[in-house]
Amino acid sequence: MLPLRSLLSLCVFALTANAHTYVWSVWVNGVDQGSGNGIRLPAYNGPMAPINAGYDLYDTPDVPVRDLTKPEMACNVMGEIPNNATIKAAPGDVVTLEWHHNFRNSSDDIIDASHKGSGLVYISQDPPVGDSWIKLQEEGQDANGTWYSGGKLNDRQGKYDVQIPDNLAPGFYLLRGELLALHEADVAHINNTNRGIQIYISCVQIEIVGNGTLSLPEGVPFPGAYQYTSPGIVFNIYLPETSPYTIPGPPVWTAAAPSPTVSAYGDPKGYTTAQPWYTWIGDGFFTVYALNS
Ligand SMILES: *[C@@H]1O[C@H](CO)[C@@H](O)[C@H](O)[C@H]1NC(C)=O
Ligand SMILES: *[C@@H]1O[C@H](CO)[C@@H](O)[C@H](O)[C@H]1NC(C)=O
Ligand SMILES: *[C@@H]1O[C@H](CO)[C@@H](O)[C@H](O)[C@H]1NC(C)=O
Ligand SMILES: *[C@@H]1O[C@H](CO)[C@@H](O)[C@H](O)[C@H]1NC(C)=O
Ligand SMILES: *[C@@H]1O[C@H](CO)[C@@H](O)[C@H](O)[C@H]1NC(C)=O
Repeated sequence: MLPLRSLLSLCVFALTANAHTYVWSVWVNGVDQGSGNGIRLPAYNGPMAPINAGYDLYDTPDVPVRDLTKPEMACNVMGEIPNNATIKAAPGDVVTLEWHHNFRNSSDDIIDASHKGSGLVYISQDPPVGDSWIKLQEEGQDANGTWYSGGKLNDRQGKYDVQIPDNLAPGFYLLRGELLALHEADVAHINNTNRGIQIYISCVQIEIVGNGTLSLPEGVPFPGAYQYTSPGIVFNIYLPETSPYTIPGPPVWTAAAPSPTVSAYGDPKGYTTAQPWYTWIGDGFFTVYALNS
């Protein structure tokens, strides 16, 4: 294995921090769990990782994810590497995923207002295996035509509430937050590799506690759940609508609560400026790199 310094010296390209929206913090019943805690932060927030490290990002411009066939469709780039912390929650708790773009404070634009589209949350056992992803929630366009991504989510300062289903069995799960931005979705990515729907994904490690007995049913795989021909993947938001937008993926699980609310949020905790990916992955990444090289 190369020493750390040699690995870092391979990191010659800097990625711009623009247009990389991800989950910065997680709240449980209005209590902030702290910036970065339990979140598999996508690896585009710092210098590039060494090439040939077993990851796809560095030979593709797939930031955000646009190729529906890539493993990054599950939990984004390097999303299979665990965070050292896991958020604890109980059935019925409301978990809030807090999305940000450049920094975690009130100056942030959350996601560029042009990036209109839907917001979704899936859940899976951790690690995900095959068809293990279940849709817990989705938000598209409301009756007034306001989109969730680039609209309501921005108005809510990036906070997306989702309820843990009642009676969910204890164990380790991943919540997969997803924003589907449609500003370049007039064409499929396979037909124009510079365009296509932009998929922002952040996974959160969650341990469900308690005595629940409800197991997740069979769901969908990521990658695999979305095809270029699926409804809602190719859609021109700039044309007058002839039919309502269909959010991609399976129906929301019948056990999920449709509209959770948090009565009040406490104070945010933790860092407010972007941390580079290698800070959270730490030794874990370099262990994986050694295994793959
Ligand atoms: C996880 O790592 C971070 C950064 O190194 C550290 O601050 C934190 O205490 C660790 N958390 C746990 C639960 O080990
Ligand atoms: C938010 O953070 C950025 C970067 O540190 C800073 O420039 C900006 O002034 C902050 N805004 C507020 C309202 O604190
Ligand atoms: C639509 O707009 C009207 C008028 O501003 C408002 O009363 C209503 O709550 C809005 N509906 C939604 C779903 O936001
Ligand atoms: C588990 O169930 C028992 C009996 O119903 C109950 O007293 C206890 O509070 C439950 N524990 C949790 C963590 O919910
Ligand atoms: C890709 O382009 C071809 C040729 O124009 C078209 O027939 C096909 O429907 C397009 N595929 C998608 C998924 O849009």
